[in-house]
Amino acid sequence: MNGELVVVEDVPGEFAERVIEAFHSRPGDTFSLALSGGETARLAYERLAADGAEQIDWWAVDVYWGDERCVPQDDPDSNYRLAREALLERVGAANAVHPMRCEDGTDPYQLKIGELGRIDVVHLGLGADGHTASLFPGSTALDADPGRLVARNTDPTGANPHERMTLTLSGIARARQVIFTVCGADKRDALQKVLRGDDVPATRVRADRVVWLVDREAAQP
Ligand code: 6PG
Repeated sequence: MNGELVVVEDVPGEFAERVIEAFHSRPGDTFSLALSGGETARLAYERLAADGAEQIDWWAVDVYWGDERCVPQDDPDSNYRLAREALLERVGAANAVHPMRCEDGTDPYQLKIGELGRIDVVHLGLGADGHTASLFPGSTALDADPGRLVARNTDPTGANPHERMTLTLSGIARARQVIFTVCGADKRDALQKVLRGDDVPATRVRADRVVWLVDREAAQP
């Protein structure tokens, strides 16, 4: 598979611990963290807010997104809103927050990620169909030119709602570390595909280091 598999009881707790560790070993003054969406992410961010309150200097953290649904920022489906509620409002500080805004198109975010160079941590989830970020099986953003770091995308099956903006595989590859969090029996099939190296979007993720934090339910074949 494309990284290390770590099966744990407490995925959110392990996620928080690894982000705290990455913060303390960051090579620069600030720490860049790209967030995802979904219910596993919500639990992971609530835990990071709690465990990282004292252990991270949030004034040194630059917050980015790995993907966003094209909905207003206060919509219940907005990944920005999820991060605001689960993390940002709880820790009360950040050096800078860079939401993806579909209405601006992809160019401003492409520029931001290009200027940033490397991203310290990109957090990703796994969909039951093998998608990650908003890179869906058979979708156009998977075939973006290597220089394109950010793209618009949609799920060709329509199963995952809303138009999206997403880091491409090249954008994700800017990560020093990718941390996947995967919970629940409905992820078993997708995880098995990744373990076998079958061609689903999550299998194609590359970065300096890729860590898969998986609970027992999802890890069962
Ligand atoms: C999104 C995502 C997406 C998500 C997975 C897992 O915005 O939908 O970033 O890739 O991480 O679908 O989501 P769950 O944890 O809710 O299953």
